[in-house]
Amino acid sequence: MAIVALASSSYKFSAGDFFLDLGNTVYCTGNLISSPVTPATMGLKQIDHGTREYDQMIQLRKQILRQPLGLSFSEDELEHERHNILIGAYDDDEMLGCCMLCPINHHTLRLRQMAVQNNLQGKGIGASIMSFAENLARDKGYQKIVMHARDTAIGFYEKLGYKVKGDGFIEVNVPHHVMEKEL
Ligand SMILES: CC(C)(COP(=O)(O)OP(=O)(O)OC[C@H]1O[C@@H](n2cnc3c(N)ncnc32)[C@H](O)[C@@H]1OP(=O)(O)O)[C@@H](O)C(=O)NCCC(=O)NCCS
Repeated sequence: MAIVALASSSYKFSAGDFFLDLGNTVYCTGNLISSPVTPATMGLKQIDHGTREYDQMIQLRKQILRQPLGLSFSEDELEHERHNILIGAYDDDEMLGCCMLCPINHHTLRLRQMAVQNNLQGKGIGASIMSFAENLARDKGYQKIVMHARDTAIGFYEKLGYKVKGDGFIEVNVPHHVMEKEL
């Protein structure tokens, strides 16, 4: 049986999971939802801007999302993230993956900077992060998530119920489409 600590009783996980309400952290032993999580013990939590965890997030995002494109982040860009919802997946102190939810208005969030360590992709970590992010969004009263998805990741988001909307466009020199999901 999975042992899971939840930020709120509104979090939705599979039947049979055991829940404890211990704040903004999910601890999972065993399988989280139907996705196999690797490593077998992973923690999901909301992190704060300007902390050591935030620095880890920036390093991971640089490595997975920006450096392959020859890009980085400006100080101004990072300062604007102060009011976003920042999420990290952890094995002990190591960040395995992350994402960020940016308020667009009182009912819509924009997902940004979704990344999983290269050597851990395809093992269910990204899906678990998305499930945590969606539950956090619902818990905070949001009803919709939108994003600019890289075309290479569209299949991942489609598996999680997101739909492509409109024509493609280029962002950070990479083809993208808008995708969205009602929560
Ligand atoms: C895209 C990304 C976040 C997905 O995370 P992940 O941990 O590798 O994905 P998961 O293992 O949770 O995959 C969940 C499902 O989506 C599928 N999937 C994962 N990545 C996919 C992709 N790029 N295209 C199509 N399907 C994909 C998996 O096969 C799996 O399917 P299953 O449920 O049938 O087994 C991760 O691969 C990544 O960081 N990629 C590089 C950065 C990036 O492109 N980020 C997104 C920017 S919009």
